[in-house]
Amino acid sequence: MPLSNSADGWGAVSKVLHWLAAGIILAQFVTGFLRYFKIVSADTWALFYSYWHMPAGIVVLALVFFRLAWRFSQPHPELPEHMRWWERLAANGAHVYLYTAMVFMPLTGWAGFNALKIEVNPFGVNLPHLFWDIRPVSFVMADIHLYIAFGLVLVLLLHVIGALKHHIVDRDDTLRRMMPKGWLKAD
Ligand code: HEM
Ligand code: HEM
Repeated sequence: MPLSNSADGWGAVSKVLHWLAAGIILAQFVTGFLRYFKIVSADTWALFYSYWHMPAGIVVLALVFFRLAWRFSQPHPELPEHMRWWERLAANGAHVYLYTAMVFMPLTGWAGFNALKIEVNPFGVNLPHLFWDIRPVSFVMADIHLYIAFGLVLVLLLHVIGALKHHIVDRDDTLRRMMPKGWLKAD
């Protein structure tokens, strides 16, 4: 499989970046919401946070910058021709939201902690300070983290339903071309 995209298919780099981010973000949801709904104790959350949620979130942030640079330096597979204008708008709008969330979920988590005078140190490396020791900022960041997360649940539902509709109802190539080669058979 080629590394680069072509006009009608995603290359290996785009596919790996897509599914890696999807997997990590799913686990971010599990860990984040286990704490938000108080299913795990503060002590368990502290472990989740240090060993998964914070470092994995920073990995998503690093990957999304690389992904955006890759996306805009490559050919981009077109959406299928049969899609109506509002379907294109919904699909593209969802993609913009997903990219925005991949940037701002980690940044708000990072800034929220720094505002409380707590280092953010994935893999033992202290990251630069954002809003260091400006307490009110931590509440704002926590709220934004939460609102983007709830928005993300809705947009992801739309994204997944859209992908399944392409495959099951429209029977086009949209989902197949994002999957590893040979995973979904053509009719
Ligand atoms: C956290 C989870 C996910 C995130 C953040 C995410 C993000 C994205 C983004 C940003 C794009 C647009 C790529 C571009 O045009 O630059 C995309 C495309 C795509 N995603 Fe996802 N995705 C996720 C999960 C999924 C899942 C679970 C599925 C399948 C059921 C899926 C199927 C697709 C497909 C088929 C495309 C290609 C659409 C096209 O060809 O234009 N995604 N995804
Ligand atoms: C893609 C990246 C991320 C995703 C998808 C994500 C997702 C979530 C979700 C769904 C929640 C539960 C709802 C909420 O309270 O906001 C949460 C909570 C939280 N996240 Fe993240 N997060 C990400 C990155 C980060 C990073 C990088 C940090 C810290 C540096 C962080 C720190 C926190 C904290 C402190 C909470 C609050 C837990 C509590 O309610 O006490 N997150 N996250």
